[in-house]
Amino acid sequence: MCGIIGYCGPKAASEMLLSGLKRLEYRGYDSSGISVGQQNSGEPHSSEATLSIYKKEGKIAALRSIVPQELPGFWGIGHTRWATHGGVTDVNAHPHLDCTGEIAICHNGIIENYMALKERLEKEGHQFVSDTDSEVVAHLVESFYTGNLESAVKAAVSLIQGTYGLLVMHAQHPNEIIGARNGSPMVLGVGEGEMFIASDVSAMIAHTKQVVYCEDGEVVRLTPQGFHVTDLKDRPIDKSIEGISWELEEMEKDGYDHYMLKEIYEQVDSIPRAMSGRLDDTQAAAVLGGLNMSERELLAVKRIVILAAGTSYYAGRVAAYLLESLARIPCTTELASELRYRNPLVEEGTLYLAISQSGETIDTLMALRELQRKGGRVLGICNVVGSTIPRESDGGVYIHSGPEIAVASTKAFTSQLAALYLFTLKMARMRHMAWPQGKRFISGLRALPGNLAQILQNAPALEALAQKYHSAESFLFLGRGINFPVALEGALKLKEIAYIHAEGYSAAEIKHGPIALINPSTPSFFIVPDDHLRDKVISNMKEIKARKGPVIALCTQGDQAVAAVADDVITVPPCDEEFTPFHMVLPLQLFAYYCALQLGRDVDQPRNLAKSVTVE
Ligand code: AGP
Repeated sequence: MCGIIGYCGPKAASEMLLSGLKRLEYRGYDSSGISVGQQNSGEPHSSEATLSIYKKEGKIAALRSIVPQELPGFWGIGHTRWATHGGVTDVNAHPHLDCTGEIAICHNGIIENYMALKERLEKEGHQFVSDTDSEVVAHLVESFYTGNLESAVKAAVSLIQGTYGLLVMHAQHPNEIIGARNGSPMVLGVGEGEMFIASDVSAMIAHTKQVVYCEDGEVVRLTPQGFHVTDLKDRPIDKSIEGISWELEEMEKDGYDHYMLKEIYEQVDSIPRAMSGRLDDTQAAAVLGGLNMSERELLAVKRIVILAAGTSYYAGRVAAYLLESLARIPCTTELASELRYRNPLVEEGTLYLAISQSGETIDTLMALRELQRKGGRVLGICNVVGSTIPRESDGGVYIHSGPEIAVASTKAFTSQLAALYLFTLKMARMRHMAWPQGKRFISGLRALPGNLAQILQNAPALEALAQKYHSAESFLFLGRGINFPVALEGALKLKEIAYIHAEGYSAAEIKHGPIALINPSTPSFFIVPDDHLRDKVISNMKEIKARKGPVIALCTQGDQAVAAVADDVITVPPCDEEFTPFHMVLPLQLFAYYCALQLGRDVDQPRNLAKSVTVE
């Protein structure tokens, strides 16, 4: 979703902003813009300045092409816009200006009461030029400005209902940026004589690894010399500077054509990273110190509710199956967006798990807050260290998959699974799982990287499969049991990056409706490992074949019965039933990737999508 960046320091602000915006591209956007303050004398400390604004629909490259090279100016703000209010146009792109042209703002989030504010401001004579909700902020700040920019921003945001990660600059306040946060991420970067502010660390990691995470209700005043954080009532807030562990190289493509392909291949390393130091061979258990719960508290858990969105939700569905079958704890997975507004019943003995790669998904964050408000204990299973969900959780597990840049989540899914499998092992070993089963479970986890490396060797076969089937208009993805959510994930991958309509279903459900869709040009992708439901799924495959539907099967090596029915077969190495989701999802990720390539899609930044969904 929208990305924001601000810079003040000795270097050319336009270049710092453009390169920062480039790093924010992965969040998903449709237009971008920058505002750079230029001291009229050309001196960084001159008190007279004007703002130069450049905005452009499309990619950052389009914006770069209209920004003069060597544009003077040492402070500025920039934005990548993911349209919510108003179409994708140059005018609707940020930054937005007030009537004087001296105040510029960039905003991430949604101003819910913007209509009322706009009406009021128009009556006062303010002229609006865009269709966005965000422009009201520029005019609001203008209406409160009497010489102190920070006070004007505080007065303005106290009238705003909704979410914001907001950056404001004023021509008469050279080298000063005001930031305000409510519900949208914001982080400061502390450099040598320079300061950054952005919606995530990727925008500044090339320049500094010293960061300060902002909280809701905080307002920041930034100058090249440092930062000052206060609340809306001007009370100072002490903030600590933290280090980032991610390396810049992890954010590069490293020779791969796309981030998505790189991240698919990385799973061989990212899964063991999620487990590193967390397996206890002696006890045949898992060590998860970050849960912040004693064994006694964990034993008192009677029910688990998982909340998440998208791919993270499907990881939660796999985990719910596993927790119920191995730890014997009733477990359900809920879409965070629905849970929040359902007035959920929070009972003693229920533990909540919020799963989120980005740690910023607003639906998941808001559901977490609602549950905590009711007294619920929420643990976070997240990737981005320092993001909002892990900071607000009562404890949790970082999945350590490293930066995931492609919009389509791949390695985060399997690392989420790895973390959730460890959590299951811990809970199961406190209950019904005996030591030998625990040992076997650990062996299954340890076998994953080797097996996945073998599966990746199927890439050419999956590419050929994509060549054969990419022109299909619609697909069914069918699985059962613990692989039903994997079928849902396979369908989601194909939809989001290849733009092919796909439905994920339980293979058992097709006869209750979806089988009506079957015809010779609608392929069904079956997930049929050698598990206790295999024979039933083979029968479902035959039902599709009988209706002349093409059948692709993802099965265990050497499964002749499946091969005899399917038109095309992709195999994976044998493993215990509970580990099949790891094995099955990789080929589905590669299949979606190659279909998208065949169709010439923008694999890493698919249309309309955002990596970090920070608006409802
Ligand atoms: C995954 O491929 C999607 N891009 C999307 O469904 C994603 O998983 C969802 O938005 C949740 O994101 P999160 O894990 O960062 O909370």
